Amino acid sequence: MALSEGDYRSSVLFRRRSIRRFKPERPSDWQVKAMLEAAMCTPTACNGMPFELILVEDRKVLDGLQKVLPFSRLKTAPMAMVVISHKDWKSKLTPCGLFIQQDLAAVSLQICLAACEVGLGACWCGVHPIKQLEAPARKVLGVPDNVMVLSVIPFGIPDEEKSPNEKWAPEKVHRDRY
Ligand SMILES: Cc1cc2nc3c(=O)[nH]c(=O)nc-3n(C[C@H](O)[C@H](O)[C@H](O)COP(=O)(O)O)c2cc1C
Repeated sequence: MALSEGDYRSSVLFRRRSIRRFKPERPSDWQVKAMLEAAMCTPTACNGMPFELILVEDRKVLDGLQKVLPFSRLKTAPMAMVVISHKDWKSKLTPCGLFIQQDLAAVSLQICLAACEVGLGACWCGVHPIKQLEAPARKVLGVPDNVMVLSVIPFGIPDEEKSPNEKWAPEKVHRDRY
């Protein structure tokens, strides 16, 4: 159902915030499935879907990632989603493959929006292109060198409350021409 002028700010687009503290309980299977399904629906160049996901639940792997990704907010997270892609995708799908970073960013956002929509919290944590983060993260995850690790997204039941985003900045809007 479409939102109206009076209530459009109730949308997940405004309610989604970066959540960095989580309750210990694991999200339900349906919530995780919803997030995965939503990720698959992300718009990608030429509908190429040049991504794969690693769903991490093993505490050892989460802690291993937290160690090498100090800003990844995995300390209390019961689960995380990692967005990855084969680096050779570019050559496979020219020219659409050239948009791979936009595609993977879109997937990351879609996952965060889906988490919020099913009552969970998530935080998009960037990895690629910071080599010092990506190389050790690859090792922890057991992915080969030809696989890009774009983002790590801890998620779970929020243990912090945040108000919806209000960032209206009219100076960012140009009309017709710059
Ligand atoms: C590419 C990217 C990388 C980010 N990396 C991190 C990160 O490493 N750690 C973190 O806590 N938040 C990270 N964030 C989340 C931003 O800090 C957050 O989106 C921003 O502060 C706005 O807050 P909001 O998401 O609650 O609206 C990242 C966001 C993006 C888009």
